[in-house]
Amino acid sequence: MTTQANDDWWRDAVVYQVYPRSFADGDGDGTGDLQGVRGKLPYLRELGVDAIWLSPFYTSPLADGGYDVADYRDVDPRFGTLADFDAMASDAHALGIRVIVDLVPNHSSDLHVWFQQALAAAPGSPERERYMFRDGLGETGELPPNDWESIFGGRAWTRVPDGQWYLHLFAPEQPDLNWENPEVRTEFHGVLRFWLDRGVDGFRIDVAHGMIKAEGLPSVGRTSDDGGRQVEMLGSEPLPYFDQDGVHDIYREWRPILDEYPGGRMAVAEAWVDSPERLARYIGRDELHQAFNFDFMMAEFDAESFRTIIDKSLAEADLVGAPTTWVLSNHDKFRHVTRYGDGVIGLRRARAATLLMLSLPGSAYLYNGEELGLNEVLDLPDELREDPSFKRTGESRDGCRVPLPWGGTLEEGFRFNPDGQGTPWLPQPAKWESLTAQAQESDPESTLNFYRAALRLRRELPALGGGKVQWIDSPEGVLAFRRDPGVVVVTNIADRPVTLAELGLSGTPLLTSSPVPTPGTLPADTTLWLLG
Ligand code: GLC
Repeated sequence: MTTQANDDWWRDAVVYQVYPRSFADGDGDGTGDLQGVRGKLPYLRELGVDAIWLSPFYTSPLADGGYDVADYRDVDPRFGTLADFDAMASDAHALGIRVIVDLVPNHSSDLHVWFQQALAAAPGSPERERYMFRDGLGETGELPPNDWESIFGGRAWTRVPDGQWYLHLFAPEQPDLNWENPEVRTEFHGVLRFWLDRGVDGFRIDVAHGMIKAEGLPSVGRTSDDGGRQVEMLGSEPLPYFDQDGVHDIYREWRPILDEYPGGRMAVAEAWVDSPERLARYIGRDELHQAFNFDFMMAEFDAESFRTIIDKSLAEADLVGAPTTWVLSNHDKFRHVTRYGDGVIGLRRARAATLLMLSLPGSAYLYNGEELGLNEVLDLPDELREDPSFKRTGESRDGCRVPLPWGGTLEEGFRFNPDGQGTPWLPQPAKWESLTAQAQESDPESTLNFYRAALRLRRELPALGGGKVQWIDSPEGVLAFRRDPGVVVVTNIADRPVTLAELGLSGTPLLTSSPVPTPGTLPADTTLWLLG
């Protein structure tokens, strides 16, 4: 499975992201749950993933799909119980699948007992000190304390009846915690231990670049009213509420806790910062193990941009001293089939990009449903959309969160329990009838069987996973590189077929992302793994 020591399992792992609400429905109520995840572990084992990362399943009013946690130490009844979690994790481990859970430390839910106590308490009280309450500006405090904007649109402050304002970098239902308060830090040490004691192998740290805000909470000096939304600066220009130096003290406190536990417990940061040097600071022996590299996901389907990003990411990995991560889809972005043109062409390109990604050094993160070739669902009725940013900006992430189609027919698709009564919490498009896991099972050329074959080869071939990329000269629109020992990867994004002869390559084809009608000729929008 991995060539490195056990503790380093994450370095070249294939991690499958489960969005619990939409993955598999164990009790037939139309909402996915942990029982459903448990039931699908044999499927995931056959798919060939090393680990699953579960998006939040904690007690939550689901104002942001669970990224608004009301109790960090319990499971929301819609998703099951702690006993269901334990049973699922224990089965996963028995099948050789590690379990990563999502930790959301920047903000809690407004229904968290701490926030409810803060609302009931007076300004200046210890209860309010757990969050970011401030007096407003203006004669009567009627103006927010600064010009900060919510990532989901609108201002980042909401006023409470006694006149104070509280900060929420996301929805108003997600008040930011005050990480300058030692009580908050201690609480999260306890949360880490709670899940480590239950046997989790790692954490995905949500908004890992948040938590600490610049002293004095200075205004940005630019808002949607004048220069465009502040969120557009994210990842390219400094913001006073993200990537502050003080955040690293938090991770330096967390790392010894992770290291106390045996078996290589890890943490991966979701950190949007403005340079590779800034990202590198999150990684290392005394902080987190990995950070997501979103550049590949953000790139156009284009040979030049892929090559530039691969080179940049590998250079960053050297700087950071840890292998990079690759990801093409997640619960926040349009599915890559749709980004690349949707329909037949989009799927063809998605498979080519996936096979390219799976050949690169480092770990790869897959998003549930991409192994079925699912597209983004663009035509959901507005009244069913739940993404909190939809109401504020018109942008919605619901289309990549539509429940997975499992069964032979769409009706039973999400009902893992055939006696269940529910229908999926978001409707599945009729054309997914042919994309159900069951429909793809027996088709050797299905996307599901393609993913299985790719992951099997990745496990079997020592060349894939760790190691280096050695570029091979190739014509415009074609990426070709060697992965030692013995694997050559070619991705053809030119608008014409290319022959292996013209690339000076020969060898035995291992796998192609789409069928190759003429042996020795790689059609456009196709990736090939070659033994040679
Ligand atoms: C992260 C999550 C996203 C969530 C946000 C607020 O970016 O991936 O889904 O809305 O944090 O927690």
